[in-house]
Amino acid sequence: MLIPNASLEALNTLRLPGKARRFAEIGSAEQLRRLIEVGELSEGPIVILGGGSNVVISGDLEATVLLIRIPGREFVGEDAEAYYVRAGAGEDWPAFVEWTLEQGWGGLENLAFIPGTVGAAPVQNIGAYGLEAKDRFLSLEALDLDSGRTLSLDRGACRFGYRESLFKGEEGRGLVVISVTFRLPKAWKPEIGYADLGRELDAMGVAEPTPLQVAQAVTAVRRRKLPDPLEIASAGSFFKNPVLETRTFEALRDRFPQVPSYPQADGRFKVAAGWLIEQCGWKGRSLGPVGMYAQQALVLVNHGGATGAEVLRLAETVRADVLSRFGIELEMEPVVL
Ligand code: EPU
Repeated sequence: MLIPNASLEALNTLRLPGKARRFAEIGSAEQLRRLIEVGELSEGPIVILGGGSNVVISGDLEATVLLIRIPGREFVGEDAEAYYVRAGAGEDWPAFVEWTLEQGWGGLENLAFIPGTVGAAPVQNIGAYGLEAKDRFLSLEALDLDSGRTLSLDRGACRFGYRESLFKGEEGRGLVVISVTFRLPKAWKPEIGYADLGRELDAMGVAEPTPLQVAQAVTAVRRRKLPDPLEIASAGSFFKNPVLETRTFEALRDRFPQVPSYPQADGRFKVAAGWLIEQCGWKGRSLGPVGMYAQQALVLVNHGGATGAEVLRLAETVRADVLSRFGIELEMEPVVL
């Protein structure tokens, strides 16, 4: 059932080469349970792959790679406040969002057109235009590879943060997301405070948008700023936007008054990493076959034929330049495998 020496190149959106020592496509929780029962997953590390849109394949992996393809979308119920919908971890995220909108359920429109799978959405706590997956999350089912047991985790248990969750840390490593349930509020109101989104809706001539129109505006902004995955390989934003303590931020703003920033609920400030990188001269600049995207300096792109080592070399160079110019340490967003 496990395939030896399987190529991962077509399974990651940065199109980096690398082989998995052993590989399997997982179509159901039962299949995964069977693999555990027969002891197939007891030797060596396990790597879980969804859409491969947020990973850096560093080379050949001495691991068993499980590609999660668990399907399914269902309406699970409603109450006075919300509709509840569940999807299998292997469902395509943008297709799932589109489906919810077609059913007339608003709530996920700001997260339209983000590449990846439903199962990866809570792992990474994906976010865009003022909304994060956690804001619409109810619960998920996960299989514990150590015990073979299925767990149900609510929002608190998932410990969501900015592009963070339980599943990215040591404690969550043995957990495989099987399905995710979302809560889509009936009292829908648009979240269009993000400047780009507001401008796009104005350009569309829409003052009171429907969920579908918000999704259209989001899609238009993303198409303009982010590379088309069919043409240019990338993993979306390559670094997180750094969150600075108030003092550190004020010192930065004194030196660079034009730095784009977003006040956080806890009094700290999030700073646009794309701007920091652009100031260091990296926008549209390459190092070997990789570079920072000309339309959005936060996006690292593979112009063709790059290796994981070349990606990491560019990431390190950009990080070092931002550190020496601004004294700020950038943290990578994708997971290095
Ligand atoms: N900016 C520059 N130069 C650049 C890029 C950006 O000056 O080359 C400035 C922009 O002018 C703007 C600010 O930086 O003032 C923010 O840029 P943008 O709106 O493009 O968003 P971002 O902060 O770079 C984040 C998320 C994206 C998400 C967008 C929209 C992170 C790491 N990235 O990017 O998420 O789509 O906001 O909400 O938080 C992803 O995580 O993969 C991703 C694409």
